[in-house]
Amino acid sequence: MPVITNIDDLKRIYRRRVPKMFYDYAESGSWTEQTFRANTTDFSELLLRQRIAVDMGNRTTRTQMIGQDVSMPVALAPVGVTGMQCADGEIKAARAAEAFGVPFTLSTMSICSIEDVAEHTEKSFWFQVYTLKDDDFMQRLFDRAKAAQCSAAMITVDLQVLGQRHKDIKNGLSAPPKLTPKTVANMMTKVHWGLGMLGTKRRFFGNIVGHAKGVTDPSSLSSWTAEAFDVSLDWDRIRTFRKMWDGPLIIKGIIDERDALEALNVGADAIIVSNHGGRQLDGALSAIRALPRIMDAVGDRIEVHLDSGIRSGQDVLKAVAMGAKGTYIGRAFVYGLGAMGEAGVTRALEVIHKELDVSMAFCGHRDIKTVDRDILMIPRDFSDKWL
Ligand SMILES: Cc1cc2nc3c(=O)[nH]c(=O)nc-3n(C[C@H](O)[C@H](O)[C@H](O)COP(=O)(O)O)c2cc1C
Repeated sequence: MPVITNIDDLKRIYRRRVPKMFYDYAESGSWTEQTFRANTTDFSELLLRQRIAVDMGNRTTRTQMIGQDVSMPVALAPVGVTGMQCADGEIKAARAAEAFGVPFTLSTMSICSIEDVAEHTEKSFWFQVYTLKDDDFMQRLFDRAKAAQCSAAMITVDLQVLGQRHKDIKNGLSAPPKLTPKTVANMMTKVHWGLGMLGTKRRFFGNIVGHAKGVTDPSSLSSWTAEAFDVSLDWDRIRTFRKMWDGPLIIKGIIDERDALEALNVGADAIIVSNHGGRQLDGALSAIRALPRIMDAVGDRIEVHLDSGIRSGQDVLKAVAMGAKGTYIGRAFVYGLGAMGEAGVTRALEVIHKELDVSMAFCGHRDIKTVDRDILMIPRDFSDKWL
């Protein structure tokens, strides 16, 4: 068993164990990847203020996200195709999350279906939907999530059109992977991954195939995907989706304060400041830089969460200090999953928890709920460097 001390260790193993097509799928941003890079590097512009000689005993990172208890303010972000990073990936990640006491969010574009994840977990999880044209299908997704006892729904609002990731096109990304001489040669070097995939029946988009109109088998999926997303989405339509779900709702994918103010009128319980991990608009502001502007705009009128770029507990601490009530990890848990399955996701959560807990103590706090901007040293132009 390799010694894992940080998220980068998991990423190195992940890279060795998973076919290149799926590694590239996760480890890419759109176009030049400027925003993908800025999401992580901008965290290091925020410095932490160390305090000494304060009682650092009896610490807790326990708090709540949308009124639900969490062992730390970190949830697993919805990540499509997770079941191709590792056989039965969504079930394994959900189980690791529930054991750790943090929320797991299942993507619409998952391999394991909502029902399948519910059957293999005990606690409730969250379900993410994209904004699709077909109202019947949208309603059925919400109904299925309700029947599976999901405790929150998340609507992703930043994917009306798709950002381009060059490597996915060059690799011919698909689930299951197309068997070409190149992909077969690469997969033959990923023995553990291959054995896992041979041993599972979960290899297609479980929430779509057999559920969406006209998608009876995986071959009809690509034409469905090209047609399904609602290019003409507006706030009225988001309000329509809100009416389809009567439980807690999270709006994901806000990076501009004007949109954050609009989101106040939807009746959501939280918004996620996110640029989709740098996978949509290349050249957009990093999420952590956008956060203070959005916090200043919405104040405490809605719970604000953040994702995009979190690779450590220190990053979580900085986001929380800036005002986020919760954060999400996407790639950080995928690295763990691809490296070591369920145990790898647990390890990713342990690493982040320890970094968060110890860094919080260095900053003179014992309870994550008391952390505020006072622990940060923020460059004067951090959030208004650009007009
Ligand atoms: C491989 C991959 C697939 C993703 N799929 C989805 C998805 O299906 N739905 C969604 O709302 N966001 C999706 N996202 C975005 C994540 O939910 C999250 O916003 C992003 O990963 C956060 O950035 P991070 O990876 O730097 O933590 C995906 C991200 C990655 C890396």
